Parts: sequence; structure tokens; C-alpha cells
Amino acid sequence: MDLKEAAQAVRENAYAPYSNFKVGAALRSAEGHVFVGCNVENVAYPEGTCAEAGAIAAMIASGARKIVEAYVIADSPDPVPPCGGCRQKLSEFAGRDVPVTLATTDGTEFKTTVGDLLPGAFDAGHMDRT
Ligand code: THU
Repeated sequence: MDLKEAAQAVRENAYAPYSNFKVGAALRSAEGHVFVGCNVENVAYPEGTCAEAGAIAAMIASGARKIVEAYVIADSPDPVPPCGGCRQKLSEFAGRDVPVTLATTDGTEFKTTVGDLLPGAFDAGHMDRT
């Protein structure tokens, strides 16, 4: 399945009545399966969740653990940058070289990687004192 099409389609289902900013995310797992997520807002604003978090949760719930490609799309002037928390969430399940495409609904794409989105990422090695 095409990640762009999957992200575009799930974006339509986003629940974003407060920001009116719908986001769609699609991930491909190492097994080749595609998982999607959209932002789900809440009247208690901090309880809202990002599209990337939803897609990651769907992947983990299926039993998959490794992201090999990601695509995020929104109706923004420039390709939508994932928030800091989502950069950390992506880096939990994706290597530094994993490609991430950030896109606008107008068709502009910016291709980056998980490592470039989160330089100096905190990882398990930083808890290692031995
Ligand atoms: N949002 C995402 O879902 N992903 C991003 O990468 C950026 C921001 C959502 C959160 C909130 O529902 C809305 O966009 C506005 O911040």
C-alpha cells in the first residue's frame, strides 16, 4: 500500500474541532504492513493525541515493533513538522536512517530522516553507567 495515499485517507478521519488542523500519518513496519493514525483532539486540550502517536499505537497493537518508513501530511503552508514528542516516539521504533516524508495537501513534500528530526536523541545507552 502507498504510504502517501494511506496518510491522505486517514487524515480525512481526524477529529480536530479545536484546531481545525487535520493531520494524517502512515508508517510501514519491517514486515511491510502499513499502519495509520490521525490526530484526535479533546475539549481538555492536553488530552489530544497526534497522528503519529495514533499510527505508532496501531503498529504496536498489531505486534509489529520496527518502523522502516513514515509519511505525515497536513493542510499546512509548509510540510508539517512533527512535534517534539512525536519525534521521540518515532525514534523509539525507528533507526536514525529511516526516511520520513513530511507533506502538505497541496503536494509539497520534504524528505528527511528520523535522525535529522531528532539529533542527539536520548536513548537507552544514556542510562548505561558501566
Ligand atoms: N499534530 C499532529 O497530529 N501531528 C503533528 O505532526 C503536528 C501537530 C496535531 C496536534 C493537534 O491536534 C493539531 O495538530 C494542532 O497542533
